[in-house]
Amino acid sequence: MSSINRQILLVEKPTGKLLPQNFKLAEGQRPEPKDGEVLVRVLYISLDAANRAWMQGATYRSAIEANTVMAGGAIAEVISSNAPGFSPGDLVFGDTGWQEYAAVRGKALIKVPRVEPLTHLISVYGIAGLTAYFGLLHVGKPKAGETVVVSAAAGSVGTFVGQIAKLKGCRVVGIAGGKEKCNWLTSELGFDAAVDYKSEPVFKALKAAAPNGIDVYFDNVGGDIFEACLPLMNNRGRVACCGAVSAYDGAPPASGPRGVPGLIVVKRLIVQGFIVTDYDGEQRDTAMADLQSWVKEGKLKVPEDVINGLENTPQALIGLLAGENRGKRMVKV
Ligand SMILES: NC(=O)c1ccc[n+]([C@@H]2O[C@H](COP(=O)([O-])OP(=O)(O)OC[C@H]3O[C@@H](n4cnc5c(N)ncnc54)[C@H](OP(=O)(O)O)[C@@H]3O)[C@@H](O)[C@H]2O)c1
Repeated sequence: MSSINRQILLVEKPTGKLLPQNFKLAEGQRPEPKDGEVLVRVLYISLDAANRAWMQGATYRSAIEANTVMAGGAIAEVISSNAPGFSPGDLVFGDTGWQEYAAVRGKALIKVPRVEPLTHLISVYGIAGLTAYFGLLHVGKPKAGETVVVSAAAGSVGTFVGQIAKLKGCRVVGIAGGKEKCNWLTSELGFDAAVDYKSEPVFKALKAAAPNGIDVYFDNVGGDIFEACLPLMNNRGRVACCGAVSAYDGAPPASGPRGVPGLIVVKRLIVQGFIVTDYDGEQRDTAMADLQSWVKEGKLKVPEDVINGLENTPQALIGLLAGENRGKRMVKV
């Protein structure tokens, strides 16, 4: 085992779009775990739109600071442990940062089972799958026959939202960038329709794709797309606010979506934000069991987009923000 630890540092916080020069590949020393810490070897780093949002300031976690190892969740293998409950060979999920080795507090790690393929621990059995599951079923609460619309539909969360909504007997419309992605959603993932927000006016195209109105809007993007969905919501519809990727990579928008709060009042909408970590214990066990059985039965496809090499992590995140990915993007270290 090498004593060198290759790391990606965030050397400067972006003021506009994220660029390769905001990062630097560096070589540090493999850390020694202190009391209560676990030394892990990072296997797969999860690339998340939220990685960019963390650079803007404190959210549900503290902001990322310049000249530190870039933060990020990963699946890792325990090398040695000074924390109770962890042994060499265990697999864990935690915020290891973008590096080959990390010493992490045992309390901040979650033990995960060794499944095949391991990548599923980052995609369908990781934050992406659980976010889709809880946001759709616990916040959106769709009923069979209702219309569900999801934005960033070809991304890691969106692909699962649409497929789970289909499993529940809903009409599903995805919103994504580009004709090819939209065709992929309908031909490969079973969506009923898809709107290409880059080449057609979203309100008009959605109205045609959702002729009975929208009952559940799973919002991954905020901004103009949120604004286009609001007037099409049915009375007592639900908006599951998952994220706002349209506002992550650049200066904040000058003004917010119109129709807030007027349309929310008139249509008696429930607009609810959530964070995946709100759900644990029995709810998480049930979600995992459902996801596992859907995957096993072939009812839930797991699109994954694996990039090789720690050194490619910055470009992989920049590409994700530009919509390069289909399904869950991750880096094999
Ligand atoms: N609440 C929670 O607990 C939780 C947990 C995980 C993730 N999230 C949220 O879930 C959302 C999806 O994140 P993810 O990590 O799974 O990423 P992702 O969906 O795999 O990738 C982001 C996608 O966003 C789309 N996009 C980028 N800029 C856009 C814009 N201006 N307007 C519309 N779409 C745009 C791109 O696809 P196109 O080609 O379609 O543009 C891109 O593929 C984010 O908002 C994230 O913050 C929330």
